[in-house]
Amino acid sequence: MATPTRQFWRLSILSSTLLFFIVTIAVHANIPSVAIAAAASTTTKPTELVSDVCNRTSNYTFCVSALYADPRTPTTDAYGLAFVAFGMAYLNASATQDLITKLLKKSANETRQFRHLETCRLDYKKAISALEMAYGDLNSETFFELAELAGNASAAAKDCQAAFKDAPHRPLTARNLGLRGLCEICAVISKLFTGGF
Ligand SMILES: *[C@@H]1O[C@H](CO)[C@@H](O)[C@H](O)[C@H]1NC(C)=O
Ligand SMILES: *[C@@H]1O[C@H](CO)[C@@H](O)[C@H](O)[C@H]1NC(C)=O
Ligand SMILES: *[C@@H]1O[C@H](CO)[C@@H](O)[C@H](O)[C@H]1NC(C)=O
Ligand SMILES: *[C@@H]1O[C@H](CO)[C@@H](O)[C@H](O)[C@H]1NC(C)=O
Ligand SMILES: *[C@@H]1O[C@H](CO)[C@@H](O)[C@H](O)[C@H]1NC(C)=O
Repeated sequence: MATPTRQFWRLSILSSTLLFFIVTIAVHANIPSVAIAAAASTTTKPTELVSDVCNRTSNYTFCVSALYADPRTPTTDAYGLAFVAFGMAYLNASATQDLITKLLKKSANETRQFRHLETCRLDYKKAISALEMAYGDLNSETFFELAELAGNASAAAKDCQAAFKDAPHRPLTARNLGLRGLCEICAVISKLFTGGF
């Protein structure tokens, strides 16, 4: 019968072998960078840039995990991080806009729910146009209005949420909070270029 120590070593050898195979398979299958980055994001220490940025937002955890959802984040500079954040906010807002279109189709056109959703449709239109403008600014290295544009997109999400103030069913709460969180990150990063950080 094996002693506990020996069993322990057998177990560790077994698990490191397993880990080795998983990593090897992952690397060869080329699925991995994203999967490994995602797994790493929960365990690795964020870069100094990311922790500096996220420390200036209202929710450090949200900020780090949002930024680390993009595989470029661990190796990027401030300029690259701005593309990550604004791109993410843009995709997020676009996904919500698609959802609003679906919800509008499902609700009868005269109901209160329909009117609230219609308000949100216009809000998200504004948010998306602000984020598109920001993306254009970034591409041309024009930084002065980035923070304002992020603020405008965030205000649009807030306005959408306010439309449901007295409604029993608020289908966009998580989306609105998510976009506002992403816009807050964008605003903080914008200040890296214009001072006031
Ligand atoms: C976060 O900010 C606080 C106050 O500005 C500072 O004391 C702290 O060291 C910062 N933490 C990190 C990880 O940057
Ligand atoms: C911060 O974000 C995390 C992850 O998204 C969330 O679980 C948590 O509730 C948020 N905290 C606050 C105070 O909003
Ligand atoms: C609402 O729906 C009805 C029936 O589907 C349609 O006749 C009417 O034109 C619609 N009203 C608006 C404002 O779209
Ligand atoms: C942001 O919103 C404010 C208030 O609605 C508006 O005056 C301003 O022009 C907007 N900024 C940009 C750059 O579109
Ligand atoms: C948008 O952001 C929310 C909050 O972070 C997240 O749960 C959701 O998956 C994001 N959606 C997209 C399409 O990025």
